[in-house]
Amino acid sequence: MITALPPPLPESFWTDRAGTGWHSDRTPATWSHRRILRAAQRMPTFAPGSADERLALQNALRTIDPRHHAEIAPEFLRELRTMGRIYGYRFRPAGRIWGRSIAEVSGATLAGRALRVMIDNNLDFEVALYPYELVTYGETGQVCQNWMQYQLICAALETLTEDQTLVVSSGHPLGVFPSRPEAPRAIVTNGLMVGRFDTPETFQRLAALGCVNYGQMTAGGWMYIGSQGIVHGTYITLLGAARRRQAGATDMRGLTFVSSGLGGMSGAQPKALALAGGAGIIAEVRGAQVARRQQLGWVDRSTTDKAEAVRWMLEARDARQPLSVAWQGNIVELLEYLTEVGVTPDLISDQTSCHEVYTGGYIPAGLDVEAAEAQARADATVWRATVDASLRRHHAALVHLTTRGAWFFDYGNKFLDALATAGADVRRGDAFVWPSYVEDIMGPECFDLGYGPFRWVCLSGEHADLAATDAAAAAEIEALMAERGARQQDQDNLAWIQGAEAAGLVMGTQARILYADAEGRSRIARRFNALIRQGKVGPIMLGRDHHDTSGTDSPLRETANIRDGSNLTADMAHHSWAGNVARGMTLAVLSNGGGVGTGNAVNGGFGLLLDGSTHVDHVLETALEWDVMCGVARRAWARNPGAQATVARWNAENRGRGHITEAAVVDPTLLDGLLGSPTAD
Ligand SMILES: NC(=O)c1ccc[n+]([C@@H]2O[C@H](COP(=O)([O-])OP(=O)(O)OC[C@H]3O[C@@H](n4cnc5c(N)ncnc54)[C@H](O)[C@@H]3O)[C@@H](O)[C@H]2O)c1
Repeated sequence: MITALPPPLPESFWTDRAGTGWHSDRTPATWSHRRILRAAQRMPTFAPGSADERLALQNALRTIDPRHHAEIAPEFLRELRTMGRIYGYRFRPAGRIWGRSIAEVSGATLAGRALRVMIDNNLDFEVALYPYELVTYGETGQVCQNWMQYQLICAALETLTEDQTLVVSSGHPLGVFPSRPEAPRAIVTNGLMVGRFDTPETFQRLAALGCVNYGQMTAGGWMYIGSQGIVHGTYITLLGAARRRQAGATDMRGLTFVSSGLGGMSGAQPKALALAGGAGIIAEVRGAQVARRQQLGWVDRSTTDKAEAVRWMLEARDARQPLSVAWQGNIVELLEYLTEVGVTPDLISDQTSCHEVYTGGYIPAGLDVEAAEAQARADATVWRATVDASLRRHHAALVHLTTRGAWFFDYGNKFLDALATAGADVRRGDAFVWPSYVEDIMGPECFDLGYGPFRWVCLSGEHADLAATDAAAAAEIEALMAERGARQQDQDNLAWIQGAEAAGLVMGTQARILYADAEGRSRIARRFNALIRQGKVGPIMLGRDHHDTSGTDSPLRETANIRDGSNLTADMAHHSWAGNVARGMTLAVLSNGGGVGTGNAVNGGFGLLLDGSTHVDHVLETALEWDVMCGVARRAWARNPGAQATVARWNAENRGRGHITEAAVVDPTLLDGLLGSPTAD
């Protein structure tokens, strides 16, 4: 419980916020001089004086000493009515929060201090999408629900001992419980709901009541490392798409790409495009997002002139030079323009926040952000119809361009589902007319083989540590390639890690992402632990994106290439989570939703603190292998060929140590004889 109130916020906090609308580009002047985006007013808003409004206040006041209730209750009510949520702004520590060097963080254990670094990095002005609302990325993905929870979690981490585990439920620190040194130091869940009630509508109400947190993946999993985390995945996806579009392509040189979004994750697109060698345009409606990405050096050029953007893209393509262009405007208008002028991009995708399509994630064509907000507030029915009409226009432009030869892929933002809901003809049975990147690229080429977004954070904050770990990881991949032959994936990942430093990808903590398979991850981690033991680098937090081989069950995304019917089950993410707890990960997280929205996914992740100890060597004997192979095993059982081959190899190499159940091969002619030839349902 919080026993002392910080001073009240200056009134300018509210007046600056009021009238600036959705995703305000302005910063409360008294808080910071930086331009910091602010979250939208969240829906639903409760009727004044309703039972739900009372319940929301009661819930929020649970965290505060009753002596202060009379003072703070009116402020909470104001937040609820203005923002749709009680964030407890007053409890936010003044000034910038960031992932400091672990040496500067106090606490009884290294693990507690390390987790504090991770949390604070997720809230950094430089890293988070809406830092005041504790949103790290993906429009609604929060570290925890409010600043009272943040304060309580930080206090718990500071005193946490090696014999205790902190349990966090949707941001609420349920308690610090006696456990064992080998157990995780923190168990975190976000927004897990009982199946029958697991709908976005119920979730929104419970979120307004302060009962559930939308953790996205690494926001509520405390493992976000800025857009770098997705640059590598986008880079791999674009390389895979280019190889499908043009046989024999080694990279994207000479190919064009058009997409949308320069937000938390989508902002990775221009960087990945340039790294892959392609030329393209990313449409973004918000000027502040364009400016932010340009400041970071993640887009090469920006313009508000469509013709100029297209000309630049084509010139770069012809010169086979990489070039990323940010065009400020609505993606629908850009695609329609391309249809008119007869320019057909090679590859097209979308990264608007379609998992929040009716709550501000997708700005419809014809409206600017402020007008969209006003319409959404004024009339929900008209607003929904406007969004749907824009999505149908979007679809029509895509049909035109793909008919002319463009290759469209859904990039995990629930876009095709949103088109279907808006009435566009995109469904074919259980599938969509256009493949998702998981079905065609990420699933068969990465997840089925165990390759996924392994990452680490050098907790010292020293850049030299990152350089040393980059070099160690590259050496390990080279050793692996020498031993087992040069796979395309290892070659791409080696090129990535060798170019990572020059690409200037670090945002916030000194972190790195590197796709690797089970063997690669385990070997790299062991090498890191040895470096720490030798005093060559400081402690390291290992983790991964939840968007991985085993981390996420989501038929709309991560498990879109599971075709044995089990794509609608969520056993794998639970198995992965439970196994990670059992094997002694430092942090184990399980959440609802992720990139595709409430009820559409269960996702889990972990953090493992490397401290150079032999205990960590012991954990590494099985933990990362389990975390990867549990997903490969499930994919092999679903008869995915790459996963079957990976499992067969693993079984041969691990005889007597373990065994993964393999699927019997069914002769298709036997079933044809019984059932006749297969028909499309
Ligand atoms: N494929 C993946 O691996 C992956 C990973 C993370 C997130 N996602 C999904 O991708 C989406 C984007 O994530 P994010 O973190 O960047 O979200 P975000 O909300 O930070 O960014 C989306 C951006 O799109 C812009 N936008 C909205 N409508 C637009 C329009 N019609 N035209 C042009 N720009 C428009 C917004 O202004 C915003 O800046 C989310 O749905 C997220 O869940 C996918």
